[in-house]
Amino acid sequence: MAHPADPAGVPAPGAELRTVSSVIAGRPVPGAPAGRLRSANPACLGDTVAQVALGDAAALVTAARAARAAQQQWADVPAPVRGRAIAHIGRLVEDNKQALARLVTREIGKPYAEALGEVQEIIDTCDFFLGEGRRLYGQTVPSEMPDKQLFTFRNPVGVVTVITAGNFPVAVPSWYIVPALLCGNAVVWKPAEYSAASAAALYELFCRGGGLPPGVFNVVHADGAATFAGLEQALAAGLVDKVGFTGSTEVGARIGELAGRHLQSACLELGGKNPMVVTANADLDLAVEGALFAGFGTAGQRCTSLGTVICHESVHDEFLTRFAEATAAAAVGDPFGDVLYGPMLDIRFAERFETYLTWIGPQHKVLGSTGVGRITAANPRAGFVGDPEAGLFYHPTIVDGVRPGDQIFGSETFGPLVGVTTYAAMDEAVELANAPGYGLSSSIYTTTAEEAFAFRKGVGAGMVSVNNSTSGAEAHLPFGGNGKSGNGSRQSGVWVLDQFTRWQALNWDYSGRLQKAQLDVAELTPDPRFRL
Ligand code: UN1
Repeated sequence: MAHPADPAGVPAPGAELRTVSSVIAGRPVPGAPAGRLRSANPACLGDTVAQVALGDAAALVTAARAARAAQQQWADVPAPVRGRAIAHIGRLVEDNKQALARLVTREIGKPYAEALGEVQEIIDTCDFFLGEGRRLYGQTVPSEMPDKQLFTFRNPVGVVTVITAGNFPVAVPSWYIVPALLCGNAVVWKPAEYSAASAAALYELFCRGGGLPPGVFNVVHADGAATFAGLEQALAAGLVDKVGFTGSTEVGARIGELAGRHLQSACLELGGKNPMVVTANADLDLAVEGALFAGFGTAGQRCTSLGTVICHESVHDEFLTRFAEATAAAAVGDPFGDVLYGPMLDIRFAERFETYLTWIGPQHKVLGSTGVGRITAANPRAGFVGDPEAGLFYHPTIVDGVRPGDQIFGSETFGPLVGVTTYAAMDEAVELANAPGYGLSSSIYTTTAEEAFAFRKGVGAGMVSVNNSTSGAEAHLPFGGNGKSGNGSRQSGVWVLDQFTRWQALNWDYSGRLQKAQLDVAELTPDPRFRL
């Protein structure tokens, strides 16, 4: 680390440029085997947040080897003591909350209020799992034979490799890293390149706060190709026992396939095309508020962001008018200001978003702003906060009239874009909600229990909100999706323990003879012909 005395990673005025390097077995990796990359502030592209020294495939393998060497000793630390380490990490993150949030806002451009919420999510995760150190329950199970006892134990899986996106550069990684460490695993973390400074700050907070022995937690900065190659080699060498991945459906499918070849199931948290059903009896103001936050918060760059509003035909016009007005009136701009959203995370997301905008066709009606595409002096946004030309800012875009068959209806459009369509009967709403084939989050605005429960039963999503937006899940409910959103794995709360532990069944016979299961079992004699 260039600034080991600055765990929260916020440079003092005039401080030298921060260089972020991989750290393996507690030692920063010298040089930059795969070159250097500039992590820029997306709200102010001239501001370099850090220079990132990239590792190659070999760095991933070396890190997995270091993790393998450290894991057994870490697993031997009593779980309550590991829980105390998580407690200390949580407190250190809390004491550095503002500084870490500032760095997140500066590096990926999410509004400061949201960044504070993101850091809070780490604290909440630590608060949950510090107690798990004193639980991590196994079971005692009755045996079918006398003088025999049955037990279950949760064993750590071993070495966990975690690969994460940069839209939640510190919270989502903590969903993997905190429970993985608590359960006695060693971790190799590959964060997104464009959020490397935030990752480095989180790494420092974990290592210093947790007092983790070298090798228990390693961080490797690398691009996608080197990461995949390194993971492939590390799996082939038997150095990785579990892969966690948050990112696109396309990459998730490749990682799942690779893990499957090694008879492992990866923990996959992928994209979404999250539907919001607005029924005929919905509170429309509440629905508009939810759609605004879910559609445009974080510039629509959450995996839980709103994809399509599925509006009952009787309220469509009224909803659309109110939604378009609220969107037009929302403040966009400087993420340190009081705004609904700031810039795109990074240039690659801005470029991809430009492609999604080309999917808008003549059959669609566009609303929500004073323009479409990048906000510039020539394509201004009324009420913009700050200088739009300094960063990667995009107009909020509502696309009315999307239908199945439209690419914009069927694919995730990571960015500030929300589709709107209509339905007549609840069955059709459910069908439209499921049609894109994702299944992460979903929402329904209704005032009847019948509609809420019919939707819950029919929708394929792992998460359902009633009268609440698609985004903003609490940190201790199972988080995860189905279909193109994941392979059914769940993070958070007690549910994630099944990702990072394996059940071991123990039977102990102290009868002094071989008692055969199923064969030597006593049978009581019933009287089946008895009648009252
Ligand atoms: C993500 O975008 O990968 O539920 C996670 C939410 C946040 C997490 C989003 N708590 O919107």
